[in-house]
Order: sequence, then C-alpha cells, then structure tokens
Amino acid sequence: MTSPAPVRIGIIGGGLMGREAASALARWFALVDFPVKAELVAVCDLQPGLLDWFRQVPTVKTLVTSHRELLARDDIDVVYAAVPHHLHEEIYLDVLRAGKDLFAEKPFGIDLAAARRIRDEAKKLGRFVRVSSEFPFLPGVQRAWSLAASGSLGRILEVRCAFLHSSDLDPTKPINWKRQSKFCGEIGVMGDLGLHVAHVPLRLGWKPTSVYAQLQKIYTTRPDGKGGTAACDTWDNASLHCSAPIAGHATPLTLEMKRLAPTETNTWIFEVLGTDRGVRYSTKEPKTFWSFRRDKEQWWEKTDLGFGTPFKTITGGIFEPGFPDILQQMWAAYLAERAGALGDKFGCATPDEAVAHHEIWAAALASHSGQKVVSL
Ligand SMILES: NC(=O)c1ccc[n+]([C@@H]2O[C@H](COP(=O)([O-])OP(=O)(O)OC[C@H]3O[C@@H](n4cnc5c(N)ncnc54)[C@H](O)[C@@H]3O)[C@@H](O)[C@H]2O)c1
Repeated sequence: MTSPAPVRIGIIGGGLMGREAASALARWFALVDFPVKAELVAVCDLQPGLLDWFRQVPTVKTLVTSHRELLARDDIDVVYAAVPHHLHEEIYLDVLRAGKDLFAEKPFGIDLAAARRIRDEAKKLGRFVRVSSEFPFLPGVQRAWSLAASGSLGRILEVRCAFLHSSDLDPTKPINWKRQSKFCGEIGVMGDLGLHVAHVPLRLGWKPTSVYAQLQKIYTTRPDGKGGTAACDTWDNASLHCSAPIAGHATPLTLEMKRLAPTETNTWIFEVLGTDRGVRYSTKEPKTFWSFRRDKEQWWEKTDLGFGTPFKTITGGIFEPGFPDILQQMWAAYLAERAGALGDKFGCATPDEAVAHHEIWAAALASHSGQKVVSL
C-alpha cells in the first residue's frame, strides 16, 4: 500500500509562532495512526536571519522574503500565516486568491470589518480556513469542555474565562508591534489574547448578548530598544462583564485579557460553576482538573490528567503535555478536519467564530468609550 502524499505547507511569518509551527510539523511522526502526512516545504519572512534558522529543516526547499513569491509556487497546499495584525487582511486574502487553504492566526484581521471581509472571501472561494487557538487541545480543557457541554452541571451560576500575562509589568521591557495600535489594532490586548479566552464559551454556544467593558492603558510609553522611548498606546488589560443566555437563563460571563497580571505567565483559566457540578482548569496547574460536586456535603475534587490528548501520540500516558504538544494537536485537528477525518473531535476555530469574537471586541470598545452596557 502506498502512503498518501504529504500535505505541503508554507509559512508566511517565521517569527515566534512560525518557528513553533515548524517545530510541531518536524515531529509529525510522534502522532500515531494519524491519517494525514504533513511537510513544511516553504517559508517567507522579511528577515534573512530568521530564514537562516529554517535552513535546518530538511524538508524546506523554498526560503523567500516576498509572500507573493511563495504564493506563486504550485508545490504548496496550505499556508500558515503568522504576521502582525495590520497585515492579516492583505496576506490572508492573497493566500486565498492564490488558491491555497489557510491556517490563520488570531485575531483574524485587525478589526471586525477586516475579519468579515476575510471570512466572506474564503466562503466565496470555497477555501478551507481555520484560526489558531491551541488551549482547547489540553487534556484538562477537553475534560472541562465535555463536562460543561454535558448538561450535568445543573443551572449555570457563572462562567469565568481568562488569559493572563505579566511580563509587561516591567516598565523597562522594550516596545514591540503588539503594543502599538497601528500594528496590533484598536482592540489591543483583546486582539492579542481574546480568541484564546472566548473560544471555548463560544463553542459551547454561550454567546454574549451584552457587554460592559473596563479597558486599561497602564504604561503609556516604553523603551524603543534604540535608546529612546516610544508611545505604547494599546489597551493593556481588559475585563469584559458579559451576559450570555445559557439554557434560557441570562448568565454572568466574565472574559479577562491582561498583559499586566502579577506573576501570571501565559495563565489560561476556564471556570464554570453550576448548581450541581462545576469545573475549574488553569494552566497554572497544567495537569490538574478540578471538579465541584454536591451531595450532603460540597466538594472540590482534583485529579491529575496525563497525556490524554485528542490525537494519540507515542508519548506515555502518564507524562504531562506542554505548549509544543498542544500546538501539534491543533495542527492535527486542522489537517484532520481539512481531510474530512476529524470525526467528533474538537476542531480549530472557524472563520465565523473569529468574526463572533471581533463582534464582542467591537462592542467592548463602544462600551468603554460610552461607559455603558452595549447589546450584541
Ligand atoms: N496562537 C498563539 O498562541 C499565538 C501566540 C503569539 C502570537 N500569535 C499570533 O501570531 C501572529 C504572529 O505573532 P508572532 O508572535 O509570531 O510575531 P513575531 O513578531 O514574532 O513574528 C512575525 C513575523 O512576521 C514577519 N513579517 C512581518 N511582515 C511580513 C511580511 N510582509 N511578509 C513576511 N513576513 C513578515 C516578521 O519579520 C516576523 O518575523 C499574530 O497574529 C499573533 O497574534 C499567536
């Protein structure tokens, strides 16, 4: 039996996330009985020094500084684009119009209007497009998601979802594009961290119908890395107090995205409290799943989950998964769904879901500027 030809992947933007994608694809053989083969074949970045790093990946044959040159090639099936947000619309549309499928990075366009244009073009051209969001592929999140979806929690009292960083507490940290609205977008930290926060509640159908947002700009200047200072004009912290109908009841849903949250290094939190049961998961305790139950007494019980990832790998069941593992799982979900082989597993964020996120962020901006509750 001949094995199927690999899906040939190109990357546009070989920075932090472009290299993570290369690493996930480079150890594809870790997946067991996975129906799709994948190979990174081409990379585009403006920085020649970064392209040099990709020379150590044996399957990469094409290294270019123009994304159009990469897209003109006919030996690429799927493009992963991981570039600053102001370039999303132009580059994503170019990918789609070049006849390639797209694995997009969040926030999927710099604002709501851009996200809608990308979604609509993908639909018109019939291209397969999904958006990166890796946290749902952690075993603890899978468990929390299925318990929350099971209907066994009773009446839902409240939901809290958060994604928290802390390195910006250091005022001497130099500026980068993610701290400047013209590159990151007016939505600031919501564009940067928000899809991670709202993806699971939206997938559960818990779509906010109203939002009251508190947005904070904390340090307004930062070192520019060249001896001077530069304006840091993005929203740093965002707390969104939403109401979402869950089983017919208006339910408090809090979405928190913060760059200045003391001690938190990439802490992703999902907590749902119901009258009968509850779930709590945080990457602060990456293998620990907490669940609440009630009989004569009330209990928070915790269990350590092993390597129970959605797609089986060679890694032993007692080991603990980390960021590179869930990134590979997310890629597996993308390629399985593209091949029609996802089954009932969790799929990556869809263009419609990305647009729904942008609708929340646009309402949050209106809420903050008008100091009012905004309906969605
Ligand atoms: N899923 C996640 O967990 C996660 C984490 C971080 C960032 N991101 C997202 O990934 C995307 C990229 O972020 P990053 O942290 O990798 O940024 P980065 O700054 O590390 O990398 C961006 C790269 O794009 C390159 N680039 C810029 N303009 C280009 C162009 N015209 N053509 C080709 N390359 C170009 C830059 O040289 C740089 O190497 C953003 O959308 C960001 O929100 C996702």
